[in-house]
Amino acid sequence: MNKVIYFLNNNFVEKDRAVIPVNDIGLLRAYAVFDYLKTYFSKPFHLNDHIDRLFKSAEYIGLKIPKTKSEIREIVLELISINKFVESSIRIIVTGGESPDGKKKGEPNLIITCEPRNEIDKTFYEKGVKIKTVRDYREAPIAKTINYTMAVKYLSEYFPQGYFEVLYVHNSKITECTSSNIFFIKGTKIITPKDEILPGITRKIIIDQASKFFDIDERDVYLHEIYDFEEAFITSTDKEVLPVISIDTHYFNKGIVGEKTRKIMKLFKSYVDSKIWFEN
Ligand code: PDD
Repeated sequence: MNKVIYFLNNNFVEKDRAVIPVNDIGLLRAYAVFDYLKTYFSKPFHLNDHIDRLFKSAEYIGLKIPKTKSEIREIVLELISINKFVESSIRIIVTGGESPDGKKKGEPNLIITCEPRNEIDKTFYEKGVKIKTVRDYREAPIAKTINYTMAVKYLSEYFPQGYFEVLYVHNSKITECTSSNIFFIKGTKIITPKDEILPGITRKIIIDQASKFFDIDERDVYLHEIYDFEEAFITSTDKEVLPVISIDTHYFNKGIVGEKTRKIMKLFKSYVDSKIWFEN
């Protein structure tokens, strides 16, 4: 079997050799950003959008990315073609580098990993998933930093209890899930939180595609409003469009995946299959 190849700073290296010092401030203080994308038809989906967001995340925390956007694009394309997986998942990570004292940053490390694409069990799309709320929020939600500490804690606690995702509620407002954006449907309206979220690339695509058939309402969404909504779904690169049948003890549409959510799932699939995104 061929060895998996990653990119580290200036070189393509075997996965086992992609190592950085343990006193990297990314490890010591979570001073690092990343972005995550995958391929369809062996082409990276919305690569430019993911690279743009990576640069915005880095700028937000004052971290310099040691390559240009077009250099990163070329490296990702080459990494996909070297590894030759049928479909790939790609993670671009930039850390703050070796810290002399555990406080100052050093020379940033750029790591790009490439693995066979993750797939989510099909039954979750047919039956929908349950979500648990927690009173919490992500620090600097606009930036995709590597700090998912509480996400890991919550998911390890609630996933075994049958919850697929955990939803952050902050000051009574619904914001986002640990690694997804959330949407609700009522009549011809699609409602989704606007602030204190990661600007998801899947979210943006869904808003563009769904606006042909629904009115899109990006606004503050309060937890008590869920009783008024008919359907719900979450979006992310890894999950695409995943129907939500319940939040805590409240069930939408009697716990059955609704027709409008199915339409949104189809819209996303048609968009992917159309290949019009190839240049993105
Ligand atoms: N997470 N909100 C958060 C907090 C996320 O971590 C993600 C993505 C999203 C959805 O963004 P996008 O549609 O661009 O994937 C929203 C990825 C999948 C992850 O952490 O692995």
